[in-house]
Amino acid sequence: MNAGIIGVGKYVPEKVVTNFDLEKILDTNDEWIRTRTGIQERRIASENEDTSDLAYAAAASAIKNAEISADQIGLILVATVTPDRGFPSVACQLQEKLGAVNAAAMDVSAACAGFMYGLSTAKQFVESGSYQYVLVVGAEKLSKITDWTDRNTAVLFGDGACAAVIGQVSEGRGILSFELGADGTGGKHLFLNDQKAIAMNGREVFKFAVRQMGESAISVLEKAGLSKEDVDFLIPHQANIRIMEASRERLNLPEEKLSKRIHKYGNTSSASIGLALVDELEAGKIKDDDIIVLVGFGGGLTWGAVVLKW
Ligand code: ACO
Repeated sequence: MNAGIIGVGKYVPEKVVTNFDLEKILDTNDEWIRTRTGIQERRIASENEDTSDLAYAAAASAIKNAEISADQIGLILVATVTPDRGFPSVACQLQEKLGAVNAAAMDVSAACAGFMYGLSTAKQFVESGSYQYVLVVGAEKLSKITDWTDRNTAVLFGDGACAAVIGQVSEGRGILSFELGADGTGGKHLFLNDQKAIAMNGREVFKFAVRQMGESAISVLEKAGLSKEDVDFLIPHQANIRIMEASRERLNLPEEKLSKRIHKYGNTSSASIGLALVDELEAGKIKDDDIIVLVGFGGGLTWGAVVLKW
């Protein structure tokens, strides 16, 4: 039995904050942000919207897209580092909002690699026959853990959510392979500080990301019995355009095979890869039988990659 994505959804808050808006509150400028990161604008949730609300909007859309009903879902996995509260989990809040009465529910804390951890976990439960459908969500309200006085981090992040329903697909398709990893010794480079804000050693994270994204992408392809030449599309974690370009070069891919959605959303952590996937689908960039590499890295440090045959 093969597990794959049978429905997708996304949600981003309405409010757009541009680099020019940030120039008004920080000692920064559009040119610096664009050239160093690729970001032009990001979405910021309202005071009334928390992570579970973003998750719900994306999940409801994915369930509709999969043409199933919420009560058919056996397990809900929400990847997030910005839960509404310590507990109950966002997954449990989502279960209630969706009326997914038959679903077990838990959150996955793996920062920006969280959606990869979620997809890989879902694959196990579907392929073992334990659950027919698993809902995987990546949802973040990073604006609530952003120090808006720190130009080193405040310009980087945004809010949003993505969701995928994982179910059985035909032989040879779906999630062909996965690769997950962690290095707890690097936790000091990216963490939530005592003021409950993101603290980051940008240069260290940059070096780690460039190395790890390339290695994970190559390794997950090997596990699927594929090579660089087989890749039709690369969707890396949308953290920094320079890191994304480095992973594209590592796979020797032409420009048009790299998903670049960072300019619209900034870094949305666990939501970023799924948001980009949905945007590429909506733009008609992904065709049946395409081989797609998803790859992410994040605080922990963590990393994860998945090869999909669409
Ligand atoms: N506007 C203007 N100047 C700035 C800004 C800003 N927003 N931020 C920093 N600078 C200044 C710095 O103070 C520094 O000035 P100095 O030379 O006078 O000291 C200068 O710009 C250069 O700073 P660097 O840190 O060298 O800039 P760099 O080219 O490394 O880019 C960046 C910084 C964008 C943060 C980069 O290191 C990066 O993308 N790192 C990876 C970040 C990342 O991917 N994080 C993932 C987090 S995801 C998660 O798990 C939540």
